[in-house]
Amino acid sequence: MERIDKWNHRYQNTISWPQPCQVLVNYTHLLPATGTALDLACGLGANARLLAQHGLETFAWDYAKAAILQLQSEAQSQQLHLHTEIRDVVAFPPQPATFDVIVICHFLARGLAPALIAALKPKGLLFYQTFTRTTVTPDGPHNPEFRLADGELLQLFQALKPVIYHEEKDIGDITQGLRNEVFLIAQKD
Ligand SMILES: C[S@@+](CC[C@H](N)C(=O)[O-])C[C@H]1O[C@@H](n2cnc3c(N)ncnc32)[C@H](O)[C@@H]1O
Repeated sequence: MERIDKWNHRYQNTISWPQPCQVLVNYTHLLPATGTALDLACGLGANARLLAQHGLETFAWDYAKAAILQLQSEAQSQQLHLHTEIRDVVAFPPQPATFDVIVICHFLARGLAPALIAALKPKGLLFYQTFTRTTVTPDGPHNPEFRLADGELLQLFQALKPVIYHEEKDIGDITQGLRNEVFLIAQKD
């Protein structure tokens, strides 16, 4: 089965709505009051809904039609305005200087990093949270290609200025904190 078919199958059988990712929940106060935002590879769009509720003109893109259809219907029922699009973001990345905020959660396509940096407007913010190769439990993707090496997120986006970087690895009491994942908020000049 193609990956896209797997995602569509998963969303057709989804019964619970995900929560927005921790990087966005913990740092909502860093969002601008106005502007454009993109939830890239949005899935069911928990992050897109938070961004739109915050007042940003929000775009939500994913190649899984089943996810986008559910998100559209949920947004309509909440009278929330979202620009949803069924879109392969690797084949069709965002255009340069189009977004004030880009959020990516649990999606990794390393080759997209230059296009994402270019897609931010001046002073634009990237919010990125995804899985790491250093783990304390077996949650998350099995394929190491979809997990970041130690410090890799900072390296991928070194052209941006880091604002917040959070990577706990397996240090200290591993029953506490955010483990198996890393997050970065970084700003364009
Ligand atoms: C683990 S889910 C994360 C969804 C969402 N960001 C969240 O945190 O709930 C990964 C998402 O990436 C999407 N995806 C994978 N490859 C993609 C591509 N090339 N273009 C667009 N979406 C893609 C999948 O359809 C899926 O919705």
